[in-house]
Amino acid sequence: GIVRFPDAPSVRAVKHVQELQKAVDEGYEAYVIFVVQMEGARCFTPNTDTHPEFAQALRAAAEKGVHVAAYGCHVESDSIIISGEVPAVLNEPALCRAPSLLIPWYRENKRELPWRENPECYHVWVSEIMLQQTRVETVKPYYDRFMKELPTIKALAEAKENQLLKLWEGLGYYNRVRNMQKAARQVMEDYGGVFPHTYEEIRSLKGIGSYTAGAIGSFAFGLPVPAVDGNVLRVITRLTADGSDISKQSTKKRIEEELKKVIPEESAGDFNQGLIELGAIVCVPNGLPKCAECPLSSLCKAKQRGQELCFPVKAKTKARRIEKKTVLIFMDGERIAISKRGQEGLLAGLYELPNVEGHLYRDEAAVFCKEIGLMPVRIEELPAAKHIFSHVEWHMIGYKVRIDELEKTNRKNFLFIHPEEIEKKYPIPSAFEKYMKELRA
Ligand code: ADE
Ligand code: SF4
Repeated sequence: GIVRFPDAPSVRAVKHVQELQKAVDEGYEAYVIFVVQMEGARCFTPNTDTHPEFAQALRAAAEKGVHVAAYGCHVESDSIIISGEVPAVLNEPALCRAPSLLIPWYRENKRELPWRENPECYHVWVSEIMLQQTRVETVKPYYDRFMKELPTIKALAEAKENQLLKLWEGLGYYNRVRNMQKAARQVMEDYGGVFPHTYEEIRSLKGIGSYTAGAIGSFAFGLPVPAVDGNVLRVITRLTADGSDISKQSTKKRIEEELKKVIPEESAGDFNQGLIELGAIVCVPNGLPKCAECPLSSLCKAKQRGQELCFPVKAKTKARRIEKKTVLIFMDGERIAISKRGQEGLLAGLYELPNVEGHLYRDEAAVFCKEIGLMPVRIEELPAAKHIFSHVEWHMIGYKVRIDELEKTNRKNFLFIHPEEIEKKYPIPSAFEKYMKELRA
């Protein structure tokens, strides 16, 4: 009873619906009517097996206002007798049926995680920000300590920067916590200390993107909004055998739109968390997904075709990788510290000025000095510099750091050398040239 179109790929059909969509953009009213010549048809749906692009084009056109309808028709040589409308179902069927299988699975199988105990907005927010670039097991102790020291949004808003950085020390990407504090201050000032309850308001807070806003909105407030991250993109593209490039913003946007239509009003949080959990423990990246344990395996197109590993499709970026670095010139009265690079990889075995990943603020640089046993007396900012290798770009900033006693460092690979000696004896790659010039000056 299910009518599907087209039965073979049809570039022309795609073109037709795109033309109708354009007509709507130009102010026309447009209809696409499917002539169904089948007795007892119960519904019409685009055939995502023969030609997924047609289904996408039809959905996109319908969203823009093209009327999509199907009618049961009796066709003669000189007449068409219309018997009645056949409901058109444009949503991906695998998506429509996913919630009823996924939600009970999630409730039964979810891992116990500290931030799941009481998923109020602050808890969800802090955990999601921490989890952005860091693994669950690493995050757990950080999360517990953070909540003990800064248990409320107010406490976060009022925290001293040093305390924040201390709490984040080791998680990296310190801007995440800086932005979180800015957002906490926004909540205190603009919302009287009450975390906002609508998706748009949550999304407008500093450092909160569509994924995090969706997670907070749905887990904490039950809003029927999607929360699409890399895990969810992987699950959905496998489930629907969708070969779109997931590194494109437009793909993410479309998948968010499709999910919006199927998120159950009364269990949005569990549905979203189910997708995330499935991506984390069943439909895993790097290697075969555990389809035998998957509640969605009966729906999954990739599985049906034995193409689990063909999805997600991610275009290889040809762009160079950008590495941010902070170069540190440690000096006492007359010597500076240099270190030897590892024996493998870029510039293997050469000497270098000590440097760390990322762009450190001055106070972070001070914290780093102390970590390696050095007591900074004065920290002077140096100009930024860029160096381009074939596959990598270093974007550097630097500090000249006056130290009382260089020997106190716990870095075994540091050497303390007079600048003139360096020029003679120690190969320092030209990537550091700008900072070497500072030294000579
Ligand atoms: N465009 C309109 N009708 C079509 C059909 N039956 N097959 C392919 N493209 C079409
Ligand atoms: Fe992923 Fe396999 Fe489940 Fe499909 S059946 S969603 S590929 S784990």
